[in-house]
Order: sequence, then C-alpha cells, then structure tokens
Amino acid sequence: MRYYRCIFVLSILTTGLLGGFAKHLRLSPPWDDTHIKHSWNAVPKNWESLGHPPSGTAIDLYIALKPQRENAVVDALYEVSEPGHPRYRAYLTKEQVADLVAPRPETLELVNSWLEHHGISSSSISMTHGGNTLMLKAVSVTQADTLLGASYQLYRHIERGETIVRTVGYSLPMALHWHVLTVAPTTSFVFPPRTQWQTAQNRSDRAVKSTSGEPATVLSSRAKVNPVTPSFLRWLYDSEAYTPNTHGENVLGIVGFLGHYPSPADLGAFMRKYLSEAGDATFTVVEINGEKYDPTHPHDEANVDIQYAEAMAYPTPHIFYSTGGGPPRTDDIWMSWLKYILDQENIPQTISISYNILEHFLSREWAINACNQFAKLGVRGVSVLVSSGNKGIGPGTCMRDDGTVRFKPSFPGICPYVTVVGGTTDFEPEVAASFSGGGFSDYFKRPTYQEEAVSTFLQDLGNRYQGLYNASGRGIPDIAAQAVGLPIFLNGNEIKVSGTSAAAPIVAGIISLLNDWLILTGQGPLGFLNPWLYGRGSRGFTDITEGSNPGCNLDGFSAIAGWDPVTGLGTPRFRKMLEQLL
Ligand SMILES: *[C@@H]1O[C@H](CO)[C@@H](O)[C@H](O)[C@H]1NC(C)=O
Repeated sequence: MRYYRCIFVLSILTTGLLGGFAKHLRLSPPWDDTHIKHSWNAVPKNWESLGHPPSGTAIDLYIALKPQRENAVVDALYEVSEPGHPRYRAYLTKEQVADLVAPRPETLELVNSWLEHHGISSSSISMTHGGNTLMLKAVSVTQADTLLGASYQLYRHIERGETIVRTVGYSLPMALHWHVLTVAPTTSFVFPPRTQWQTAQNRSDRAVKSTSGEPATVLSSRAKVNPVTPSFLRWLYDSEAYTPNTHGENVLGIVGFLGHYPSPADLGAFMRKYLSEAGDATFTVVEINGEKYDPTHPHDEANVDIQYAEAMAYPTPHIFYSTGGGPPRTDDIWMSWLKYILDQENIPQTISISYNILEHFLSREWAINACNQFAKLGVRGVSVLVSSGNKGIGPGTCMRDDGTVRFKPSFPGICPYVTVVGGTTDFEPEVAASFSGGGFSDYFKRPTYQEEAVSTFLQDLGNRYQGLYNASGRGIPDIAAQAVGLPIFLNGNEIKVSGTSAAAPIVAGIISLLNDWLILTGQGPLGFLNPWLYGRGSRGFTDITEGSNPGCNLDGFSAIAGWDPVTGLGTPRFRKMLEQLL
C-alpha cells in the first residue's frame, strides 16, 4: 500500500509540472506538423480498393492513449499469475485496472484540444477499454480522412468478397506521436478473421468435412476409427468424473464474430446423441455493437464452439458473444468486443476465441495495443484460450513481396498474455494434427515464462529454417487438444469438422472445470494460465512427440519431447492438472 502511495505522490508532482507545460503548449500546438504513424507500402495482399466508401459512411474511431505508468498492467499481470508471488490470484477490479492504465492528464488535454481543433464534439467522445482509449462515435469518413491525414476506402477481399473500410496509411501531429499508441480502425486489415475450419485436404483423410450423418461407433472399443465425441474427449482428457457444481458463479464465454450464430436446437440434438445427461444444455447470447442474433441461421464455427465447450463443461453457464459491425465492415470487431468485455464488472472466468488473423496483416502498434487489452483481462482473473490457426507454419508459399519467405503466425496467439491451443489427432499415442498452427512472433518477444521451454526446442532445431522465423519471438502454441474429425450438428444434420477452432473450446471447457473446483473451495480462478502452465502446471499435460505442421511449402516444425511449436506442452489431463493445484 505504501508503495502505491509513494507513486501517487510522485505522479502528482510530475503531472503537475508537465501539465503546466502542456497548458502552455495548448495555445499554439502545431497541429499541421503531421508525421506518418503507420503506413503500408501497398494495399495488403488479397485486398483491392473499390474507391471511396458510400457518402455518409461513419466509423467508430478508437484512439489508444499511452498510460502514465506504461508497464503497470503487465507487471500486475505477472504478479497475480505467477504461482508463489504474494499477490498470486489476487485479481484486480475494473476500477483498479482503470487506475493502472490511466493516461497522463496532459495526454488527455493534448488529444482533446486536437479533437476540438477539428470540431469533434465532446459529446461524441467517451473513455473505453478500461480507461486509456477514447472512442469517437460515428465519425464521418471525410472527417476521419482530415483528422488522420488518411484516405479511407472501401476494400474488398479478392477471394472472399467481404468489404471493409480501411486506409493504407495515417498520420498524427508530431505533438501527439508520443501520447497516442494507435488509432483503429486504420491500417490493420483485421477483416475477416480467418475462421479455423480446415476444409478437405488430402494430407489427412480425417480432415474432410462430410455431411453424412455417420452413426457413432461404440466408444468402449477405443479403436482409432472412433469419432472424437464428447465422451471420448472426457475419457481421453480424464475429466469424466468431475461435475461442475458452483451453481452459476462460474461462467464460460465464447466469442463470435461476423454474424456466426450458434443454434440451441443443434446443441440439444448434439447432446441428446452424444451426452444424454446434457440434453437440456443451453446458453445465453449477448449482442454487441449492433449485431443481431438469428438462431435459425446457425454457422458451423459458432456451433462447434458452443457444442464442444458445453461437451466438456456442462452444466456450467455459457455466454455467446455475437459481435457485429457492418457490412461493409466499418468497425474494428476486435476493439468492439474488447471494449464491451472490459466494461463489464463481472467477466466470465474462462473465455474461448476461435478466430485468428495472420500477424502480417496487422500493424505492430495495433497488435501491441490489442494484446494489452488481453493483459487487462488476465489481471482481472480471466483465462483466455485461443486457437492457433489451421495453416501449420503458414499458408501458401509464405513469399513476401521482396521474394523472401517468412513463416506466418497469427493473432491473437502471438500475444504473450493469452493461452494458445494447437491441434492433435488419434490417441495412444495422440499426435500433432498436420494443420496445427505454430511458430514465432515477429512483434512480441519471447516471454520469460517460456524461455527455458522454447530455447530447449531451438537448440534442438539448430540452423534449420534459420532466417525464416524469429528465434527471439513469442513461441506458439502453448498447449493442444483434439482437432480432427469432430462431429457437430448444423441445421439438424450431423457433419464432421476439423480445425484448431475445436481445440480451443475443448481446453476452455477443461479450464472451466478447474475454475469451478477452485471457486467451490473458496479460491480465486486460474486467471492468466501461462506462468503456471510452463511451471508446475506442465505436469498436468501429456507431451505430444509425433507429427509436424507443414506449411509455406516446407515440412514445418516437428513435435518432439518437451515444448514444440506444433503442440506446445501437450494435451490436458484433468485430474493431473487438479493435483497440481492441491
Ligand atoms: C524479431 O523479434 C524481436 C523481438 O520481438 C523484434 O524486436 C524484431 O523486430 C523481430 N525481427 C523481425 C525481423 O521481425
């Protein structure tokens, strides 16, 4: 406490001095002395400009401000998630996080006078994302162009046809560069998030989506041809003996984008077939940013997320977040969801996200800012599980414009403050799924918690692939789970799907069971998992040592003893994980 008070007194002194300085500046800030904040050399690959957006198009602009105490949130995150630390699992409230991330008063003053200079009415400005981001509601594209020295256009994805409103570059007055972390949406082509489905691929005959309503084979034979059903997963990951019992206090959240809706009817049909005691399984839906919820038009992504999270965690309450914006997609969906969730007083203890986007479509600043929002979730005691992607070390040839090859990891997994789940298949032994996303970030350096595990792997790898990946970057995934040939129900029919999209909710379900037990026994939930996972928690995992994740026209990395960028530390064993918490 005394420590914080010292900081407080000091900050009054410094902000007092600098605040006076800023007031002096405010009368004549050189707003027209602008410099590029971020810009691409060309329109990102696979996107084409359709020219100006329709007149009247408006966007919600987010301006992320530098906190007064730059590292405070991440420092607090490691305190509350490092077993053995005196503050382990002493999570912070929404208000405490707001204190940690508050910008300097002169930052706010400068930015506000710049907005005022451009005639942005203060009634359209609000503080979001737990206290360091200004949201400007419904700014016209013309005004955004002027404000940011940008040229917002309508872009269409050449293959998928989705349209978004973005700019290839933007500028800020020099006086603001130090104060503003990033502005979104600008140059990060975050639409569409890549859905995780692995479509038919000949390198794994099980990775084929089929619409045949195949009957379940008898599980007790445990033959390798068995489908990956809920009871199989509960057996394989050793969770079948545990029934959640917190009566509503423990909640599991599933993030949905792009109008992908889950169907309660399909969930019921799935459970009646595969887990009859869960026949009444249900979920609530939260509509964010104008998105609607239409259960009569379910999507396989949303259905697999709900069906497999519930398969592991029933009867734990589930919330599905239906996050909107567009089309054309004017908003930054990630910022929209993070804004909503960080604004809640109570957040589900476990959250699963099965969408990702290649790192190179994002600006470094955007990625760092979004990652910091995940750190805020961790500080508040939330475990975030994300899928690692379905393209191995990268899609296609991974050739850059200059002709060099670079492996392509994806967001949000590149963020060191989430737990990334890769894919496996088979059992006895379980092996890596060939599409399991893995690799190393160019934007985030290797966090301390995985230093030993990752450097051991890199020593073993030696010179192989040198220069094609970042040997000092954050390594992904952290862990893995089954991802091939999972039956789901969609529009009343049974189909089989494959992808790390399934692996994330499976693990989220298991983590949610651990949280249930912790809460029942009067303890705090697990929160940000990784420092525990790479320490004592790793004993609760089965190391996967076979298989690889080809991509970029190369063989990919190999799963080996210990951590690897294919299956991480391995797959969960519920009872062993529980033992590590006793
Ligand atoms: C490799 O990662 C480090 C640490 O995150 C980063 O500073 C560096 O820019 C990365 N290198 C490349 C070529 O992206």
